[in-house]
Amino acid sequence: MNKVFHFKSLTSTQDKAKEFSKKGLSDIVVVADAQTRGKGRFNRKWHSGKNGLWMSILLKARNTEKLQYITFIAAISVVEAIKKTSKLRTKIKWPNDIIYKKKKLGGILTEGIFGKNNFMVVGIGLNVNQSGFPKEIRDTASSLRMIKHRFFDVKKLMEGIVHGFYYSYANYYRKNKLGYIQRLWKKHCGTIGKNVTVFTVTKKLYGKAIGIDKDCNLLLKSKNGGIIKITEGDIKIMY
Ligand code: BTN
Repeated sequence: MNKVFHFKSLTSTQDKAKEFSKKGLSDIVVVADAQTRGKGRFNRKWHSGKNGLWMSILLKARNTEKLQYITFIAAISVVEAIKKTSKLRTKIKWPNDIIYKKKKLGGILTEGIFGKNNFMVVGIGLNVNQSGFPKEIRDTASSLRMIKHRFFDVKKLMEGIVHGFYYSYANYYRKNKLGYIQRLWKKHCGTIGKNVTVFTVTKKLYGKAIGIDKDCNLLLKSKNGGIIKITEGDIKIMY
């Protein structure tokens, strides 16, 4: 098991992991019981008071790293760890949301630090034992406890995720079996085959999600039959 640095409260486990990277540390896990400035993709606020799993894995990187695959591996390991501990079949919503019955249980934020030494910080947030959420996210967020009506062992979930992450990282990513990562991700993905609305920074697009390309971009088939490549954005699945 990798060395785990556990804190009661941090601004963000991402910030702490970045601090550790400056000391030359890597292959460590930073966990906090609560974050005061948890962040999500697009610099959004990530609600992370007590009762969730807030963690960052710090990895050494080469400058050729494909961050999107790292995010995919993290999402796969979260879904599989949840399944092991709760039998719940959660789904991945492209690119990185962990979803159960349309509600968000977790998300991944992978950041690269490229300089003299390169690092990747894989931030994983999972709603575990919360019994409710602030008004802004009440309709869209859920927790394992709210779904299963019992408490979960946050540490056990963290260990399961780290174990699954490193297994795939060593056996598929490092050995360049990227196709296998995509296959696993697709197995757990609830987006492909669905009609979706995509919100990018500048536009709103409609279409059917038909797959992903080799860089993990989402491929959207628009009404006129054209294929649009989505590199980033939020999607809303039209169930
Ligand atoms: C998203 O869905 O937008 C990604 C959310 C990532 C949240 C996690 S919680 C642990 C780590 N620390 C942070 O500040 N963010 C990530």
